[in-house]
Amino acid sequence: MTFSRAIKIAPSILSADFANFGAECRAIEAQGADWVHVDVMDGHFVPNITFGPSTCAAIRPHIKGVMDVHLMIAPVDPYIEAFAAAGADVISAHLEAGPHIHRTLQAIRATGKKAGLAINPGTGIDAVGDLLDMVDLICVMTVNPGFGGQKFIHSQVDKVRRLRAMIGDRPVHIEIDGGVTVETAPLVVAAGADVLVAGSAVFKGGSVANPTAYGANIMAIRNAAKAALPKA
Ligand code: DX5
Ligand code: ZN
Repeated sequence: MTFSRAIKIAPSILSADFANFGAECRAIEAQGADWVHVDVMDGHFVPNITFGPSTCAAIRPHIKGVMDVHLMIAPVDPYIEAFAAAGADVISAHLEAGPHIHRTLQAIRATGKKAGLAINPGTGIDAVGDLLDMVDLICVMTVNPGFGGQKFIHSQVDKVRRLRAMIGDRPVHIEIDGGVTVETAPLVVAAGADVLVAGSAVFKGGSVANPTAYGANIMAIRNAAKAALPKA
């Protein structure tokens, strides 16, 4: 994975057909997805349960590009190896998931995978400053984690702007996760984000049988995002 701040659209399979993940991953990639965002939830750190390492391993052969695994679990450390072995390219852990985030990020990087740090809407970015050399990506949650289709939390846009300034020219992505649509994508890109997770806004109106809707949705978000990029 060479670093580039070019806009990337990362559909979240939380909004996909859970009975057909392999075909859904192939469909969104064929329709223009840059990354595939995989939302792992344990019913403890967040009030929902999705899937674990075995599902990630099962969908890996159906993803040509980046498998971006978002761990909404606590504790994280006992499961890092399993998600790395399942084929994750990026493994993101929540700052709020435990008392030793620095050790968690070390453990993720020790597997050779990219390390992501996810922060909830209620978490400030002060602690992030001391972790910028330990991460390849910061995932700014723009909803409270656990479900797709929630309303974007606009107060997080200023957090993105401050985070972008903090990162400087380090090769660290800013990923936005939750409520990304053609309306909200420009706000976060103008503030400095480069990876846009979108579940409901990508999967709405489409299916494996009708994947062109996925492509149209991805294109609409990408175009709205690009229009907000600072003019070169
Ligand atoms: C929420 C997940 C998000 C979610 C995004 O806990 O981390 O990735 O699936 O879904 P939308 O784009 O519908 O808000
Ligand atoms: Zn997510």
